Amino acid sequence: MAIKTPKEIVRILNEYIIGQDEAKKSVAIALYNRYRRMQLNKKMQKEITPKNLLMAGPTGVGKTEIARRLADIVDAPFVKVEATKFTEVGYVGRDVESMVRDLVSEAVRMEEKDQFERVKPQATKEANKQLVRLLAPGVKRENRESQMQQMQDMMSMLMGGGNQNNNDQEEVTDEVRNQRMDVAEKLNKGLLEDREVTIEVEQAPKASPMSDMMGQMGMDMGSMLNDIMPKKKVKRTLPVKDAREVLIQEESRKMVDYDTIYQRAIERSQNNGIIFIDEIDKIIAGNKRNSGEVSREGVQRDILPIVEGSTVNTKYGPVSTDHILFIAAGAFAESKPSDLIPELQGRFPIRVELNALTKDDFVKILKDPQNSLLKQYVALMKADGIKLVFTQEAVDKIAEIAFDVNQGTDNIGARRLSTILEKLLEDVLYEGPDMEMGEITITEAYVEDKLGDIITNKDLTKFIL
Ligand SMILES: Nc1ncnc2c1ncn2[C@@H]1O[C@H](COP(=O)(O)OP(=O)(O)OP(=O)(O)O)[C@@H](O)[C@H]1O
Ligand SMILES: [Mg+2]
Repeated sequence: MAIKTPKEIVRILNEYIIGQDEAKKSVAIALYNRYRRMQLNKKMQKEITPKNLLMAGPTGVGKTEIARRLADIVDAPFVKVEATKFTEVGYVGRDVESMVRDLVSEAVRMEEKDQFERVKPQATKEANKQLVRLLAPGVKRENRESQMQQMQDMMSMLMGGGNQNNNDQEEVTDEVRNQRMDVAEKLNKGLLEDREVTIEVEQAPKASPMSDMMGQMGMDMGSMLNDIMPKKKVKRTLPVKDAREVLIQEESRKMVDYDTIYQRAIERSQNNGIIFIDEIDKIIAGNKRNSGEVSREGVQRDILPIVEGSTVNTKYGPVSTDHILFIAAGAFAESKPSDLIPELQGRFPIRVELNALTKDDFVKILKDPQNSLLKQYVALMKADGIKLVFTQEAVDKIAEIAFDVNQGTDNIGARRLSTILEKLLEDVLYEGPDMEMGEITITEAYVEDKLGDIITNKDLTKFIL
């Protein structure tokens, strides 16, 4: 596992998120503490529970964005959930324990990926063998040699050797053998990658509300169904290069041990798992007289045992939440963290405030992040063969307008940049494909021309930007 130091984590976050240094630092420390804890002896490990983190700050300043980036940074099971999606136990909707089940599913996916990586050379070999057989099929046997043969086939099918059975019906003549050698060689040289081949694949069992419910009761609906029902096979015709991937997956599945995967996934969730609860302020009951609010506090009360540490049944087995790290975030526009029920507040000892963004921040947000808004538009226009350029003055102007509009109307943080850019570039996006120009430069004058009328008229501003 690649361990990232707090500074390294912050450095990666810096590539995407402007400012908010306090939040980045706290998050980085919390993550690294997980690694520190794992270095200790078991007894000490048990004692040290994670210091959960609560991020508060105005809307549109990077709380959710930090969470999204964390998912890529941490080499640990990570899920992000919205508190608003949950309903109190007994009501229709997602129960809070589903966040732990999601976490374990994520851990299973990670563990599976690791194990698949391990068996990849063998699985690839098997897949290639199958491709050879599919590309140079044997000669179909016309009539059964004897009843005895049929009996044997039947027996082997009953014993679970169904797959081989198909091949048994094919005769591998010398000619076929030669063909196969030829195909194998071409395949090896990568000459057949685009050739189409029809493969039979098992259809994944569909997730259903029923299986979700069974999962809640700790039952493994998936494997129960698998045990009861014959697997449904579907035929798919694919180019060799894609078929190989599918076959590798199938072969890998046969080669790995799922009991081990599940067990390790549970351990991984328990020791390294991170659950990000977004929009936690939305489960604060604002006005007690409103009866609908009661169930919001119910959600808080339901979340409490999970954050405090309890055992949740999942289809992979029971999971203890004692050492799962929880990070919560909310805008707290009409409330404060102290409006959360006291027990829950206590479970989030580390508090970080995210700051409102300045005009300078906006300039940086437009330009600097790896996937910055301006870079996105430049890339989009490139699809039309147009080079889109923004002058520095234009960028400053856009940032200034965004800041002013935020002050004058609702402050929606960096989200304002998107609405403004979309309006600003409307004509360019519309005309783009028909334009003869190879390059378009957005100047300060262009920005003023396009947006000037709108920002001087407050009603228009509210409506459009
Ligand atoms: N500090 C920042 N650096 C870079 N981009 C940012 C920053 N803050 C916000 N953004 C951009 O603005 C958009 C909204 O940000 P985000 O979703 O993080 O808001 P939030 O703080 O979660 O707000 P809310 O409380 O409304 O959920 C995102 O697309 C994000 O890319
Ligand atoms: Mg958010």
